[in-house]
Amino acid sequence: MTMRSTAEALDAQDPLAKYRQQFLINDPSLCYLDGNSLGRIPRETITVVENYLRHEWGTKLVSGWAQWIDEAQTVGDLIGRSALGATAGQTLCVDTTSVNFYQLCCAAVDARPGRNIVISDTANFPTDRYVLEGICKQRGLKLVLIDDDHGEEFVSTEMLAAVLSENVALVTLSVIQYRSGSLHDVAKLTKLARDAGALFVWDASHGVGVVPLQFDRDGVDLAVGCTYKYGNSGPGSPAWLYVSRAIQNKLGVPIQGWFAQEDQFEMGQGFERAPGMRGYQVASPSIVGLRCVSTAFSMIEQAGLPAIARKAAHGTELMIALHDAWLAPLGFSLVTSRDAKHRGGHITLRHPQARKISEAMRIFGNVIGDFRRPDCLRLAISPLPTSYAEVWDGFSRIRDLVATRKHDEIRESTNRVT
Ligand SMILES: Cc1ncc(COP(=O)(O)O)c(C=O)c1O
Repeated sequence: MTMRSTAEALDAQDPLAKYRQQFLINDPSLCYLDGNSLGRIPRETITVVENYLRHEWGTKLVSGWAQWIDEAQTVGDLIGRSALGATAGQTLCVDTTSVNFYQLCCAAVDARPGRNIVISDTANFPTDRYVLEGICKQRGLKLVLIDDDHGEEFVSTEMLAAVLSENVALVTLSVIQYRSGSLHDVAKLTKLARDAGALFVWDASHGVGVVPLQFDRDGVDLAVGCTYKYGNSGPGSPAWLYVSRAIQNKLGVPIQGWFAQEDQFEMGQGFERAPGMRGYQVASPSIVGLRCVSTAFSMIEQAGLPAIARKAAHGTELMIALHDAWLAPLGFSLVTSRDAKHRGGHITLRHPQARKISEAMRIFGNVIGDFRRPDCLRLAISPLPTSYAEVWDGFSRIRDLVATRKHDEIRESTNRVT
């Protein structure tokens, strides 16, 4: 596993290798191991967006809305069938993950009047915890956070069962933990919450486009996620929300915008909600953003999630082998599970100097990963654009850099973003 020829052989047999050239790669010597944070840009996106600007917005002007008006639903359906295991009519591509999370969590707690507890975990992504704090404060609910802010940051069925009761309205977790990379058991945890009468909102931001989610099969009620990580749709690209058909007309979101109005262009008095997923749409979607999403998710659909997930498993296995051989002797330890069934596309390593190492990697090694407090370094394979050789080169540069203590040259960081 530690020979470069092993990585080269994996690339030679890789059924997804052809996708790398479909991405814009300006610097071939860069090892980009941060596709779990922001994916690379597909070349096609540049053409699609330019065509949209010139030949749709530029030419059709406001008449274009006749074609654009339902695009949040059609692009939502594409995300659903390519990456979520969701049949049509259950996914919308709109707004941001944070806004969608607020919308669906409010919808869930409002659908369980008389229950006053919301459950999440301490290791969950900050926006989720902050939004929940706000919802609980506004509605007088109690927020219970399962303490898993250590080790693999994994919430087991036993840990959830221990805090469930007939007073729980909502349970919400991330499919993959943003920091440790742990993958939760979506089907089992959802069933446990449902059996206790609670609704579950999943945040699949770190899972979408890299693990084969099966929302319809797994009985998922509600979920949100972004499109800019393994979705490769660009910084701030529209996010998505999923509401299972069975509960769509039983729940309502707090922001009642005009896109959810049954007779939208009647522009009449009083809100009358459209049935189905349109009832969850607030406002005019970003059509430029939707084109970025549809281009990138069409590539995911063509490549197929099973093949993408297989490459993520092999790529993270290669990373773990290189960590064991090269990085563990230099003071690193592995946080993420060694079992590929319990992780997605990124692994997390702990090192007391992780922040300096992450910066030194960019400055001296031309390797991009990222640092997460307090001492974590995240490294990812994004199966469509990343090659196995890119992973190997990145790890060998990290090894050389830390072995020669180049990171000691890094001073206090002035960068607000890590
Ligand atoms: C798990 C998770 N949830 C939510 C968000 C926030 O997404 P947004 O800024 O699109 O609201 C992120 C961002 O990285 C995330 O990783």
